[in-house]
Amino acid sequence: MLEKFSNWKDGFGKKKDASEELELVSIPKHVAIIMDGNGRWAKKKGLPRIAGHREGMKVINKIVRKANELGIETLTLYAFSTENWKRPKAEVDFLMRLPELFLGKELPVLMEENVKVRLMGSKENLPPHTLRAVETAITKTNENTGLILNFALNYGGRTEIIQAVQTMAKQVQEGLITYDQIDETLMADNLMTNQLPDPDLLIRTSGEIRLSNFMLWQLAYSEFWFTEVLWPDFTEIHFEEAIREYQHRGRRYGGV
Ligand code: IPE
Ligand code: IPE
Ligand code: MG
Repeated sequence: MLEKFSNWKDGFGKKKDASEELELVSIPKHVAIIMDGNGRWAKKKGLPRIAGHREGMKVINKIVRKANELGIETLTLYAFSTENWKRPKAEVDFLMRLPELFLGKELPVLMEENVKVRLMGSKENLPPHTLRAVETAITKTNENTGLILNFALNYGGRTEIIQAVQTMAKQVQEGLITYDQIDETLMADNLMTNQLPDPDLLIRTSGEIRLSNFMLWQLAYSEFWFTEVLWPDFTEIHFEEAIREYQHRGRRYGGV
């Protein structure tokens, strides 16, 4: 039973040989990842939690390259949730330094890879140095036409929905729209993913089987793939495994 359960979490036991070439048909257009398990990775090694975050940061570059190579159009990475402010100040401070550390080193690579950086989350409360690093990357990569790298930073799905509802309510109040014009399209237009398609595939590492307030609206019909692998140990091989599993899923959207 236990084994069955762990297979389920690793993709219903449909695992194929990891070295097998991925079929380049039905590549998901948008993949979202909850990069989890940095703290546990560090703990296992007797290191402070921030060492796990530093190691986790190094994985991003590898996955971005692989995603670009496979022709994935958008990669959304959950980097910091609206709930993560509850963590000890020293850890939060370090996490808020990560965008600078990452982009300071990787921006030339992202340019080379034709990657376009985006930010999804509330800019309020972000330290100025964090926001500056991300906004510089957004500006510099603005004309790039390759993979969209969407960082969810200070992001929370419920806050996002509330903000969208407030915006639309205000438009009704001001007579710009009528209440019955509020539909799925208008809702989606008012979310932080505006213009991005919904994720086709959601990956979460570290064995946690929950959404933790991530993309609550957009994940309505996404395929989910969970793995026990901790984010700092996540490799291109695991990423391909998730995509291979995705390619064998039948998406029905309520139909037959
Ligand atoms: C994910 O790793 C990174 C962030 C949430 C910022 P965690 O820090 O949550 O690692 P665990 O879950 O404690 O192992
Ligand atoms: C979700 O992970 C947020 C990110 C990966 C950025 P958490 O580690 O914060 O989620 P919970 O607390 O285990 O649900
Ligand atoms: Mg966690």
